[in-house]
Amino acid sequence: MKSMRTFAPALLALALAVSTLDALEKPPSSACHARRVALAARLHGGVAVLFAAKEPELDFDPYRQDSDFYYLTGWNEPGAALLIAGEATGPVAHAYREILFLPTRNLIVERYTGPRLDANSPGVTQATGVDEVQPMSEMAAVINRLIATDRRLARNIWVQPSNAQARALVDWTGATLGMDNAPPPNDVTRLTMELRQVKDAGEIELLKKATDASIAAQRVMMRSVKPGVTERAVAGQMYASWLEHGCERASYAPIVGSGINSTTLHYSENSRTIEDGDIVVVDAACEYSMYASDITRTVPANGHFTARQREIYNVVLGAQQAAIDAFVAGKSTINDRDRKDPNSLDTAAYNYINTRGKDLHGEPLGKYWLHGLGHMVGIDVHDPADYPAVLKPGMVFTIEPGVYIPEEKLGVRIECDFLVGSDGKLVDLDAGLPHTADDVEAAMRGK
Ligand code: GLY
Ligand code: MN
Ligand code: MN
Repeated sequence: MKSMRTFAPALLALALAVSTLDALEKPPSSACHARRVALAARLHGGVAVLFAAKEPELDFDPYRQDSDFYYLTGWNEPGAALLIAGEATGPVAHAYREILFLPTRNLIVERYTGPRLDANSPGVTQATGVDEVQPMSEMAAVINRLIATDRRLARNIWVQPSNAQARALVDWTGATLGMDNAPPPNDVTRLTMELRQVKDAGEIELLKKATDASIAAQRVMMRSVKPGVTERAVAGQMYASWLEHGCERASYAPIVGSGINSTTLHYSENSRTIEDGDIVVVDAACEYSMYASDITRTVPANGHFTARQREIYNVVLGAQQAAIDAFVAGKSTINDRDRKDPNSLDTAAYNYINTRGKDLHGEPLGKYWLHGLGHMVGIDVHDPADYPAVLKPGMVFTIEPGVYIPEEKLGVRIECDFLVGSDGKLVDLDAGLPHTADDVEAAMRGK
């Protein structure tokens, strides 16, 4: 029998091999540790408990980790939970503590999933990068002991509000502490939202990779859209391109809307056959190592915009440029649906659209733009934020004006991803993709 000394490195090697099997470019453990420490600083001595995402219920959905859990751990397996205790001073002081709880290995299930680590696997602390790793069976006892030592903590628990395991844990913890009316826990996602808005250098690199792969697929799209091709076949070509570029999945259901479907904002059935003379809205992008891109281009089915299609295209492109021109870091806001904020980029884009062009009845076009101008992008394609949100260095967001006129079967949306650089200037992450009508037509000719 192998001694433990030779067995341990072998298991660690297996663990590391397992963790590379999913082929994600993981955040460095130091970055995740810094995020956990930053979260702890917002807890005012409290305790946060976050659960990993469960396995998907439908067989055709691959596993995707909970976004906050991934942000804090880089851990991409189900069944885990993370506890962070913030440092507290005063009569009952306690130090910062972080514990990753892992479920006990199930060797039968592992015949289906491949090997997994548990808290007893040699090298697990190094593999996870978390200070302490304990069996999941210890979690309730650990929380009980923390609160029994410092009863103030009962009012300072932070969990994911819609998570059933978190609710059960809070109720069970109350029961173990003899508390009939345990106070409701706080919403930890409010705190992770604040942290996630400003991206670190590693996150920006992954967002650029997601965007570059999405640009490549949009170029594939421009060469594959033709009369007689189905919307779904176009989406399929884009999927193939994303996967070839190392992306794990689409970052949202791809939208290939031709003709009248171009005027349905989130059309994703993609079942129609594209016809000559159609305009086609293609809002489709991918996720690279858990980070999303979000790109829309609008193209003419036969490679040539009609005069009317080009007119509306230029109004939408001009609105995007008006928002870019109005941008001031630290002052401009995004997603101001009521357009009450004079600093919002939505107002700049809306004013442009509403004073250019007319519908078939001589009316201004503003009423044909129905959605917010943009949103934060990160681990989620719609990264959490309180809107309208002030745009600051390190943030990544979309600018995506649109005009949708069902009466003319004419919808146009142009959507690009922008980074606010450390100098406060906007960086168009989609600069490598055609923006103007002429450049779109050229790309459709393979130029
Ligand atoms: N693709 C969804 C959106 O643009 O927000
Ligand atoms: Mn978007
Ligand atoms: Mn989009």
